[in-house]
Amino acid sequence: MAQVELLAEVTKFIERPPKMTIGGTAVEAKSSRTFDVIDPSTGDKLTEVPRGAAEDIDAAVAAARESFDDRRWSGLRPGKRTDILYKIGELIKRNTPELAQLEAIDSGKPVNLASGEIWAAGEAFRYFSGWPTKTFGETNPSDDNMFIYSLREPLGVCGGIIPWNFPLIMAAWKIAPALAFGNSVVLKPAEQTPLTALRLAELCLEAGVPEGAVNVVTGLGEEAGAALAAHDDVDKITFTGSTGVGRKILEASAGNLKRTTLELGGKSPNIVFADANLRRASKGSMMGVFLNSGQVCTAGTRILVEKSIHDEFVESLVGATRSMKLGPALDDDSGMGPVVSAEQLERVTSYIDIGRSEGARVVTGGERATDLGDGYFVQPTIFAGVRNDMRIAQEEIFGPVAAVIEVADVDEAIAVANDTMYGLASAVWTSDVSKAHKVARGIKAGTVWVNTAGLYDPSVSFGGYKQSGFGRELGKHSMEGYTQTKSVWVNLR
Ligand code: NAI
Ligand code: MG
Repeated sequence: MAQVELLAEVTKFIERPPKMTIGGTAVEAKSSRTFDVIDPSTGDKLTEVPRGAAEDIDAAVAAARESFDDRRWSGLRPGKRTDILYKIGELIKRNTPELAQLEAIDSGKPVNLASGEIWAAGEAFRYFSGWPTKTFGETNPSDDNMFIYSLREPLGVCGGIIPWNFPLIMAAWKIAPALAFGNSVVLKPAEQTPLTALRLAELCLEAGVPEGAVNVVTGLGEEAGAALAAHDDVDKITFTGSTGVGRKILEASAGNLKRTTLELGGKSPNIVFADANLRRASKGSMMGVFLNSGQVCTAGTRILVEKSIHDEFVESLVGATRSMKLGPALDDDSGMGPVVSAEQLERVTSYIDIGRSEGARVVTGGERATDLGDGYFVQPTIFAGVRNDMRIAQEEIFGPVAAVIEVADVDEAIAVANDTMYGLASAVWTSDVSKAHKVARGIKAGTVWVNTAGLYDPSVSFGGYKQSGFGRELGKHSMEGYTQTKSVWVNLR
């Protein structure tokens, strides 16, 4: 075991303890209340952070509104906004060791995995830093007597509510586009993982974001989150999390008809055809479902395998799975860490029990890993003999649990892939180009990976079909989610 020593900056940050950023100022909750931040690798308390509630959300929204209305951010020269966004990305990357350790102790993800995520969060700011200079409307001169043009304008105050599985990436995916298109932001991180978002707010100020344009309020979902979603002076909510809470956000948005972007759950199919490169497919499918302890909205949790290669593939998948080392986040050798919380541990292990009682067969894993102390470790678990109507094939488990389902051919693979209320992502493994494209068209999901899995890029739009949500994040389509157009008619007669 290669234990990583905590950096002095990390210890200092958690001992301060960290505060929220509202209107450019570090503040505690108005109630002075806090909640505990837990290290999932040990179950120990790391620190406490402010338990923001409705009154703190009010203050943050007011600060965001003021910064938006006086145009201290959107009125800056576009090139200047580019510089600042780019600088946030650079600061994130420069502080990678600190941010990666904070992410690792807060979420349980192995520190090496966390380092890659910090880089990806920096990349999101770098990508969106290009947009301020490229965001504008169109002209319509088709009528000789009229000059019509459109202005593309920001929405105003955007609320971001994010989950705990990729804390800093999620914060970046909400803050970077909101700012790039001229909005002000109030971000509510998940209560399980508030640390890196609090640090990011400081880095935004350091990079030159004006006071009030980025505010971060920590707190519980039912308190701070619900207050943000229902707030009458918030123009848009962008939410990533469970489908159940997504529905509540949509209901809360009805009050002032705020815009919403919802990125919700998934039960993504990962289809392996007999003509696939089996070694690559088994390794890729394994990473596709177990990366980040399976706590990934796009995880390929339903592994659909063509009958003729079923047994051979399952054996290879089990081999790949057993080669991954389960261990604490601060162990350099860990390939997979604990799940995020005691609640999640309970949820995941109870789904393993459900799978057994439904008659599916555990081919590897199947237990909580108790040899690693009090941390929330679950063995990566593969069920074979799963039917697509079983609960473990229909419900989002959000842990290291894979369901292998046998399929006869392409048509059955597409039918089973689509037999779900979700439609977030999918993967197809085949060496037949025509088959790959045919399946890509047949699957009802916002992303299809062919001979790969789990890839994202800030330039590539991302979002769901069906109950996996609506709206697209990242890429050029994100502009629609953060701007509105105004048509101006000028009479030339
Ligand atoms: P959640 O959906 O409750 O939490 C996501 C965010 O929403 C957090 O910031 C939370 O504070 C906030 N929130 C909770 N209730 C709210 C409310 N009434 N109004 C406004 N904001 C609210 O997810 P949770 O409970 O942490 O995880 C439960 C399950 O949700 C997981 O097991 C998994 O199946 C799913 N999930 C899916 C994610 C995805 O990316 N698709 C991410 C996280 C969880
Ligand atoms: Mg919750």
